[in-house]
Amino acid sequence: MHCIKHIAAIAAVGLTMSGGWGSAHAGSMIGAGALDKATLGELLYFDQNLSINRNQACASCHTPPHFVDPANVANPANSPVSLGSDRTLNGGRNAPSAAYAAFSPLFHWNATDGLYIGGQFWDGRAGTLAEQAKGPFLNPVEMAMPSKGAVLKRIAERANSNFDRYRKLFYSVYGVKTDQLRDPESDVETNALYDMVADAISAFEKTGKFNQFSSKFDYVLAGKAAFTPSEANGQAIFNGKAGCIACHTSTSGTAPDGSVMPPMFTDFTYDNIGIPKSMNPLIAGNAIDQGLGGRADIVARDPSGSQIGKFKVMSLRNIAVTAPYGHNGFFATLEDIVHFYNTRDVASERWPAPEVTQNVNTEELGNLGLSAQEEADVVAFLRTLTDGYGAPLNQFAFPPFP
Ligand code: HEC
Ligand code: HEC
Repeated sequence: MHCIKHIAAIAAVGLTMSGGWGSAHAGSMIGAGALDKATLGELLYFDQNLSINRNQACASCHTPPHFVDPANVANPANSPVSLGSDRTLNGGRNAPSAAYAAFSPLFHWNATDGLYIGGQFWDGRAGTLAEQAKGPFLNPVEMAMPSKGAVLKRIAERANSNFDRYRKLFYSVYGVKTDQLRDPESDVETNALYDMVADAISAFEKTGKFNQFSSKFDYVLAGKAAFTPSEANGQAIFNGKAGCIACHTSTSGTAPDGSVMPPMFTDFTYDNIGIPKSMNPLIAGNAIDQGLGGRADIVARDPSGSQIGKFKVMSLRNIAVTAPYGHNGFFATLEDIVHFYNTRDVASERWPAPEVTQNVNTEELGNLGLSAQEEADVVAFLRTLTDGYGAPLNQFAFPPFP
């Protein structure tokens, strides 16, 4: 019954269903309220009215099916970062895929290993997905809205083609009337309503649409497909000689509900792999990006600067279709970044100096000794991580994540 309701809701907003909601297992985990919430989040996620010039939505920079900026993917060498709603301003960082972002744990300090883990963004500054979703609407180089109240008014205006659905869903999910959105009585109320917008978007990001587990890798894991010899060799090198597995976890784990959790290809930690400063004219003039260690709260806790230059280990799911690569989009192709891992510290290769020389990891990468064929095999393996090889396998029930 839940499944049928979800299909109806998705059909109502004119999108095809591709997520892993089909099985009774997943259906039984998700109540009707949660489905309404995800549907509301879906409308908000695609609503261009929520940007200053009514020309940009979350979906513009995180477009399905792989949830990245198509302008970057089409021209990664010249377009490493996204343009904002005003069509001239841009941020300094490459838009990561929003797929599988739901799996990042709460940002926290792990005292046992002495590491920061989790969070959203390249520097983890948003603890959770909902916290993350509050940022882009108000970011001047993204959707550029002047205030939370202004975002709420755009949701509640009659001219919004979603008006009726917003009215119905805000009431059924949060008990909120359109009048309240249009005209909150206090800052406290404005903040609470804005938090609901972010909460609904995060519910949508936890659905099967974003988390398909439908790659060739997933099919091989399930015993339903086989790697080519090159892909299989690439996997062996990834896990062995090249040591990618040390940060991009490639073995299954256990989910909070006890079921098998397929690998996310990240351990959600932070590292400085020594990526050079971008020479792209869009961002070449930017200040040095210090990543995690540049955050004011981290600086306050860690005056020694041990986190400077570190960025989140990103998931490698869908990596072949989410160019460019690295926090500043320095690498246009997978071949480039794999060659960088292999040869960063080989003098004859003449890689430019790292953007931040402090804390560069010189132990696990930089001179891996891979042959050209081995590099190509690693790339072939990475290409098996793209969703859409087959139907979603739905190995995992959502959403037990922050
Ligand atoms: C103008 C392009 C743009 C728009 C619009 C945009 N984003 Fe992003 N998004 C980015 C960039 C760039 C980053 C990385 C920024 C950083 O790390 O500092 C990012 C990061 C993220 C992440 C973090 C992923 C991870 O693994 O850390 C998520 C999730 C996300 N965005 C979702 C959204 C949602 C939801 C919206 C709408 C409310 C949105 N984005 C609107 C460009 C955009
Ligand atoms: C020591 C930890 C570590 C190891 C080992 C490692 N990586 Fe990474 N990887 C990272 C970090 C951290 C980032 C993000 C760095 C940045 O953008 O500054 C990253 C980013 C990437 C990206 C770009 C992700 C994106 O969304 O743009 C790719 C592709 C990648 N790694 C592949 C590999 C491969 C292939 C190997 C093995 C040859 C490997 N990594 C080994 C830590 C590691």
